[in-house]
Amino acid sequence: MKTTLSYSNPADFQTECLAVVVVDQGEKDKPAPAILGADQTVQSAAADLLASGEVSGKALETVVIHHPQGLKARRLLLVGGGKAKDFSSSDLRKVAGTALRFLKPRKIRSLALLLPEMPTGAADVVKAVIEGAYVGDFDADTYKSDRKDQRIEELALLAPASADRAALEKAHAEARVVGESQNFTRELVNEPGNRMTPTVLADRARKMVAEVNSPNLTIEVLGPEKIRELKMGAFWSVAQGSDEPPQLIVMRYTPPGAPEKPVLGLVGKGITFDSGGISIKSADSMEKMKYDMAGGAAMIGAMRAIALLQPKIKVIGIVCATENMPSGKAQKPGDVQIAMSGKSIEIINTDAEGRLVLADGLNYARQLGATHLIDAATLTGAVVVALGGVNAGVFANNDEMYARFEKAEQRAGEKMWRMPLDDEYRELIRSGIADIKNTGGRWGGAVTAAMFLKEFVDDTPWIHLDIAGTAWTEESKNWIALGPSGIAVRSIVEFVKDMAG
Ligand code: BES
Ligand code: MN
Ligand code: ZN
Repeated sequence: MKTTLSYSNPADFQTECLAVVVVDQGEKDKPAPAILGADQTVQSAAADLLASGEVSGKALETVVIHHPQGLKARRLLLVGGGKAKDFSSSDLRKVAGTALRFLKPRKIRSLALLLPEMPTGAADVVKAVIEGAYVGDFDADTYKSDRKDQRIEELALLAPASADRAALEKAHAEARVVGESQNFTRELVNEPGNRMTPTVLADRARKMVAEVNSPNLTIEVLGPEKIRELKMGAFWSVAQGSDEPPQLIVMRYTPPGAPEKPVLGLVGKGITFDSGGISIKSADSMEKMKYDMAGGAAMIGAMRAIALLQPKIKVIGIVCATENMPSGKAQKPGDVQIAMSGKSIEIINTDAEGRLVLADGLNYARQLGATHLIDAATLTGAVVVALGGVNAGVFANNDEMYARFEKAEQRAGEKMWRMPLDDEYRELIRSGIADIKNTGGRWGGAVTAAMFLKEFVDDTPWIHLDIAGTAWTEESKNWIALGPSGIAVRSIVEFVKDMAG
């Protein structure tokens, strides 16, 4: 998708479709729809429609006017933004995504979007629209033979002539990188298990690094021998059951002039298929477990964005990639494994594999010098029970780091909800025969999984994102297709930019 910024008069802009935001400025039951940022000509082109009562401005409603009077645009698309007083950058992201997704199946390949004025400033508006547009442009239709390749070719943002152009260009360029990186993550997550083995995931990460082509971004992939040599007993315990060799993907972003510290470690769960292992899952929705590498894919996408945006901070990205399979070589419930940190783990359920691979991933990140850690993982069904598909679960062992992360996730427009890590939960993963066990029983499953990870980060400030409920959109919405969401990429990039100062 080609995106441009234009400062020309909206009425004179030639396009297949001019999209505008309509909000409701009215009181309770009396809608008073108004177009944001429109001049007199655009207002008049929609005046009859707005007066008709057929449009209220309610969130994400769409109406098209053909041959709008006085405009060079062939169509005027009104997209609802909801109540005027609550209209936020998050809503704007969805409006932009909705505009694209409305036009895509209608064979329209280019559009212009009239930027609204918002209290957060024009640069934030540009960012929200571009990122929202990339979210909307993605469809998980790679394997449909009647795929129509409906991607939008051109999106022009119409900004006021008085805007600070340098600031908008910068926001535009950055948002493009982030939007592309999020979609890159989504492409990885969309691939099924037979086409996205640990080896393929490592190859895709290598290809990404080659394409970014920066001396500041390097990659090293460690195979089964190295993983064993490093004594990653927890990671290996999951990998040992699969015929596919595990891969430890290590990406390093080291920009010139970055301070020695902090070093941020990003660790992703890369289970390319989770059958549950010997504690095998039921057949119902087992097919979904191809997206169990979404945390790892988020880290690869985030490293891409970071290397292109060039913040002055060192970042290490680690993905522990393996399948979780039952076989004669697979680990069994009751087995005891020794993690890289030296801690012994009693395996109660081989389906609690994500925490095992992450235990060694987090430990390794610290060995490589990470002073701060973020992990992302489709870790538990319990977080889906707790938060559904709306919020990702966030866990943190450090309030200061959490406070910064919370701001980052808000700037990114990603919804997350903090979950507890009280010491009282620790006893649920105490083992009779080893240091800890890998499940904490039925209740508080998302928390006990996080408590397990906490054992491997010690005092290093750490954020854990449980994205099991949010990495896959179950039903398409106006602004996003069914399929992988690319959650966590944007929040992590925002956080890194903030850490770099
Ligand atoms: N990958 C699953 C978690 C999951 C569930 C991801 C639903 C996406 C959607 C994870 O490896 C798992 O199997 N967790 C178990 C842990 C249990 C055995 C303690 C779970 O949540 O049931
Ligand atoms: Mn599992
Ligand atoms: Zn899993």
